[in-house]
Amino acid sequence: MSILAVDNLSSGYAGAVVLREVSLALAPGEILAVLGKNGMGKSTLLKAVMGFLPKMTGSVAISGNEATRLPPHRVARLGVGYVAQEKALFQDMSVEENLRLAVRRPDFEAALAEVEASFPFLLQRLKQRAGTLSGGEQKMLLMARSLATGAKLLLVDEITEGLQPSVIDRLAGVIRSARDRHGTTMLLVEQHLPFALAVADRWAVLDRGEIAETGASTEPDSRARVLKHLSV
Ligand SMILES: Nc1ncnc2c1ncn2[C@@H]1O[C@H](COP(=O)(O)OP(=O)(O)OP(=O)(O)O)[C@@H](O)[C@H]1O
Ligand SMILES: [Mg+2]
Repeated sequence: MSILAVDNLSSGYAGAVVLREVSLALAPGEILAVLGKNGMGKSTLLKAVMGFLPKMTGSVAISGNEATRLPPHRVARLGVGYVAQEKALFQDMSVEENLRLAVRRPDFEAALAEVEASFPFLLQRLKQRAGTLSGGEQKMLLMARSLATGAKLLLVDEITEGLQPSVIDRLAGVIRSARDRHGTTMLLVEQHLPFALAVADRWAVLDRGEIAETGASTEPDSRARVLKHLSV
């Protein structure tokens, strides 16, 4: 059974259709990267799946549960974590408080172990106000936090935005290792092509709200096929 099944999904804003009849399925533990130029509907796809936007046509199922009309908190309860593109931390709370809010209490020690496995510097910063972390450090906290929640399915919107190359390399390893240890299924929206192909099993390109092309990351011509859609 698919962890995520999106079938014929259309969505958008106040009557303006952005996403057009998108279908995709994610098997357990699979990582799919969604690529595409600015404004093509990548974030809209994640927001529609998460229940922040109304679905105009189509359906969404999560681990076999019908989720088309569920609000975000109910989608989250099905084991779905969402890392938004825009800042999603409580800026005035500490690193630790941000983690505690995302992770249920009895799991907190396990969550800290997960943070240590991904970005250990955060353990030295537990008392620091999240808003005073650098932009890149905040991205690392976001990723560590979402992995620490133990979500079965993660929807991650451009986690590499603004990160230096060495951190992007580290993040690729962190994500692959978390998937291998926990079997986490992930839908990653990305602009960073080498990262996307290194991390994901499959890729899909969104062009004006439609899936224009898909492939497996290991296919030797993947890079060229994606780049064709990304060049202006
Ligand atoms: N709240 C909104 N109200 C109206 N239109 C919106 C809203 N948010 C996004 N859009 C429009 O929907 C289209 C797709 O936007 P979306 O944010 O999904 O693009 P994206 O592929 O994530 O782009 P980027 O790579 O720049 O993040 C754009 O034309 C955008 O202007
Ligand atoms: Mg976006």
